[in-house]
Amino acid sequence: MQRTFIMVKPDGVNRGLIGEIIKRFEQKGFALLNAELMTIDRSKAEYHYMEHQEKPFFGELVDFITSGPVFAMVWEGENIIEVSRLMIGKTSPTEAMPGTIRGDFAFCKEENVIHGSDSLQSAEREIENFFGLLKRHRLEDDFPFEDR
Ligand code: PPS
Repeated sequence: MQRTFIMVKPDGVNRGLIGEIIKRFEQKGFALLNAELMTIDRSKAEYHYMEHQEKPFFGELVDFITSGPVFAMVWEGENIIEVSRLMIGKTSPTEAMPGTIRGDFAFCKEENVIHGSDSLQSAEREIENFFGLLKRHRLEDDFPFEDR
């Protein structure tokens, strides 16, 4: 079993897409472990997108992700990192296939509805950045998903 960090970005929250996105992940058979609507500060955003800090769009990316509430989630399932990236679709709207979340709902790569971790390492770092270790472990103890 793998865990990943999925975030509905401010544009997705604004457009009322939280329910649609949760529905798709639930229908796929993945388990929601934690979720919170939150507005993040610049330091959390900069840490989240640290691998892009040299990119010319880094400032705009941080401006955008801190511009309003995001819906942060931790999901669990088999091969969820790879599968969720397929469900999300490519960054560019000209490459995101219909049927994917971005293919169906996003029209530009600056504001593209949803973020998903791209590796195990990123998932660990991103989950800890948004939820912290203590909270994550407490919820796991409260809601064991082995029986699902
Ligand atoms: S790259 O250069 O291929 O590594 O970047 P990419 O994976 O395409 O995008 C990384 C994240 O940055 C967002 N992005 C942008 N934001 C603002 N302006 C511009 N021009 C821009 N281009 C890409 C993109 O939505 C990615 O966000 P996440 O949340 O990681 O999917």
